Amino acid sequence: MEKDQTQKTTAEKIGAFIERKNLLLSMGGEKMIQKQHEQGKLTARERIGLLFDPGTFQEVQLFVKHRSSLFGLAGKEINADGVITGFGQVNGRVVFVAAQDFTSSGGSLGEMHAQKIWKVMDMAVDARKPFVALNDSGGARIQEGITALHGYAGIFYRNSIASGYIPQISAIMGPTAGGAVYSPALTDWVFMVKNNSYMYITGPDVVKAVIAEEVSHEELGGPMAHAAKSGVCHFATENDEDCLNRVKTLLSYLPDSCHSPLPVVPCTDSADRECPELDAVIPDKATRGYDMKKIIAAVADNQEIFEPHEFWAKNVVVAFIRIMGRPVGVIANNPRFGAGVLDVNASDKAARFIRFCDAFNIPLLTFTDLPGYMPGTQQEWSGIIRHGAKMLHAYSEATVPKISVVTRKAYGGGYIAMCAKGLGADYAMAWPSAEIAVMGAEGACNVIYRREISGAADPAAKRRDLAASYEEQFNNPYFAASLGIIDEIILPRETRKRVAALLDAFKEKVQTRLSKRHNNIPL
Ligand code: HXC
Repeated sequence: MEKDQTQKTTAEKIGAFIERKNLLLSMGGEKMIQKQHEQGKLTARERIGLLFDPGTFQEVQLFVKHRSSLFGLAGKEINADGVITGFGQVNGRVVFVAAQDFTSSGGSLGEMHAQKIWKVMDMAVDARKPFVALNDSGGARIQEGITALHGYAGIFYRNSIASGYIPQISAIMGPTAGGAVYSPALTDWVFMVKNNSYMYITGPDVVKAVIAEEVSHEELGGPMAHAAKSGVCHFATENDEDCLNRVKTLLSYLPDSCHSPLPVVPCTDSADRECPELDAVIPDKATRGYDMKKIIAAVADNQEIFEPHEFWAKNVVVAFIRIMGRPVGVIANNPRFGAGVLDVNASDKAARFIRFCDAFNIPLLTFTDLPGYMPGTQQEWSGIIRHGAKMLHAYSEATVPKISVVTRKAYGGGYIAMCAKGLGADYAMAWPSAEIAVMGAEGACNVIYRREISGAADPAAKRRDLAASYEEQFNNPYFAASLGIIDEIILPRETRKRVAALLDAFKEKVQTRLSKRHNNIPL
């Protein structure tokens, strides 16, 4: 019979503690760990080992246990209650984590599992450090009922309250079903691991029963479904290791909190580096596309771009770069896809990125080349007015440094939506190839010269003539620059050095807005 704790020697107590702790650290045990590995997944402890700098992880509340006795849970040991919580250093900076472990009761979330997550989220907020959730769970612990749902609600509440205060990142590394998808949705960034993760509010069986649609897990809620179709996932990664490496890369661009300085890295690139290749990037033919990412890369330190939402709404690129070692958020039309037009998804993608950057003091650099907002019933009925308004709102409310560069087309509402001067750009520049006008020349002439065109002997020739004079007046940067709406016309090759000088000049920018409870962004 085991000795009473009070009768044990100190050495025995320490030995018993180590034994107990080792048992908890073993999580779901050998068999479950092997199953996890066979599926190509790492365990939560192995993931934590990859995320944090060696030896820096400090576990929090390892000894917490569930206290449920229903449906077979009485006396059932679930080590660490299925979730490892704590903090450590990622490249020398403190980050808090909650890592669900599928090997322990499927990482299912019960009352105490949730309270461990609450605790570590509260610590992250109080410490003003980023929070990372590694999700791998069968969802609400079915045996615990309402306490599990209450647990989720407390997480959603904390995600929402911490939003804009500390960066929050979710990595989906296994199943995430039902309401469990909403914590990731409330965080700033969602990573998913290919072949091993999915997110949906109801799985294929329910879909089949309710709407008689047959769909696989992957098709319904796999990484590429969310990375390319829904936009829920910002980064579709190859495997656990790739996922965690990319989480670390993202963290390297982010401050610890909205009150913390930006992470500046030593810069080996030069502030006045010219980019002669940019002088030839704009095609002579106005209707031809080109890859805006080439321009972003040319301007960035060492050509490095870190791009969320690479596969979704490709007509707009959002990306983190560094200029002279300081993080910058880039928003740019990409004429390679759909002429860089703004549609519902592109507007959502850009607006959320702008708001994230503004919340965390990351300056905004905008490159414009678009024919406007996307017309048509599909877009109108999907609410392009509502979604497009998000960009206007996001840019207007942003108080970080805002610099914009028109590379080619900047027409109508699209021109405004890409951080025009009137939305508070601190400095608006244009390349000589810029065309800044209310609309395309022929369309404009059809409206203002309708009678002249229809009454002409050769209406097409008349339209062409009139359009040429409209183009000469408006489809260039000179008229806008003569009014100071464009602050400067620059050579493409000078873009990096101009932007670097402006960002340096504006790095102490402080702007305040009206005192109120909060804005009401169109949702
Ligand atoms: C309790 C769970 C569980 C859960 C898994 N387990 N999910 N226990 N509650 N939600 C347990 C299993 O009983 C098993 O325990 C162990 O975890 C491993 O699970 P397996 O089924 O053996 O794993 P696998 O075959 O890989 O299947 C994975 C799975 C399946 C597809 C995720 O476990 C599954 O369907 N789970 C239930 C999913 C679900 O419907 N969740 C509720 C969603 S609704 P033992 O003891 O045998 O090892 C929801 C609402 C949230 O989450 C609302 C928030 C607002």
